Amino acid sequence: MTDAILLQRERGLLTLQLNRPDKKNALTRAMYTQLAEALERADADATLNAVLIQGSHECFTAGNDIGDFLDQPPSDLDSPPFHFMQSLFNCRKPVVAAVAGPAIGIGTTLLLHCDLVYISRDARLRMPFVNLGLCPEFGSSLILPRLLGHAKAAQLLLLGEAFSGEQAAAWGIATEALSSGDAALAKAREVALRFEHLALGAVQVTKQLMKSVDREQLRQVIEEEGALFTQRLRSPEAIAALSGFITRR
Ligand code: COA
Repeated sequence: MTDAILLQRERGLLTLQLNRPDKKNALTRAMYTQLAEALERADADATLNAVLIQGSHECFTAGNDIGDFLDQPPSDLDSPPFHFMQSLFNCRKPVVAAVAGPAIGIGTTLLLHCDLVYISRDARLRMPFVNLGLCPEFGSSLILPRLLGHAKAAQLLLLGEAFSGEQAAAWGIATEALSSGDAALAKAREVALRFEHLALGAVQVTKQLMKSVDREQLRQVIEEEGALFTQRLRSPEAIAALSGFITRR
């Protein structure tokens, strides 16, 4: 199976589907680049009203491809994972996510930058950065303590504890938890298509207003995290933990 992001256009909606099922949709450098370019094109395309990011009904993503982290660790903020984060951070169109099954690492943190998140109750989210010798990314060290308080955020970021889709919705990380993966995907598509009936200019201004208060601080934190993350990837702690995943069988 080739690494792939499937792009599908349905009226004013662009769907980006993570499609690498044999590797639990783990994101390669090529997939990040495809995602980034698609988000940038969607942002510039006046005929598109919204973007939907989804995996399958049973798996969102196992996060960054661990082999890529070992073989070609991102070296600077222009590297594919950061290019993707910037494109999502800068996207002025509403971004909806549909999540089922595992949503690990970047699979959880990217949700913090989507506008609406529909998730299956039994989805399994986790940010095992410390467990892998790494550190938080993509603004999560700022967003999560603000959203949850330090003590709860520490459970997720320092201990890397897993949590369910139901908890994600209760804590404000997701919009709504649904009974199954199929239900989450169907609801996300239905909501994303609703944007074609809403005035795009008003939608964009509203998103901009909702994001503008924290934007500069968040941009700085994302850069700081990115610099530390690239250093951590080269640390003996991270190399041992990531290699352990590859050789665990
Ligand atoms: N990078 C590369 N390959 C990955 C991967 C990742 N992040 N996550 C899973 N895979 C691969 C596995 O190596 C396996 O490949 P193989 O069949 O060739 O051996 C395949 O995907 C299926 O994974 P498996 O672990 O057997 O599936 P599972 O259903 O038992 O568990 C997960 C699913 C997501 C819970 C588990 O794969 C996992 O914990 N992955 C790593 C998550 C992670 O730490 N991500 C990085 C965060 S920074």
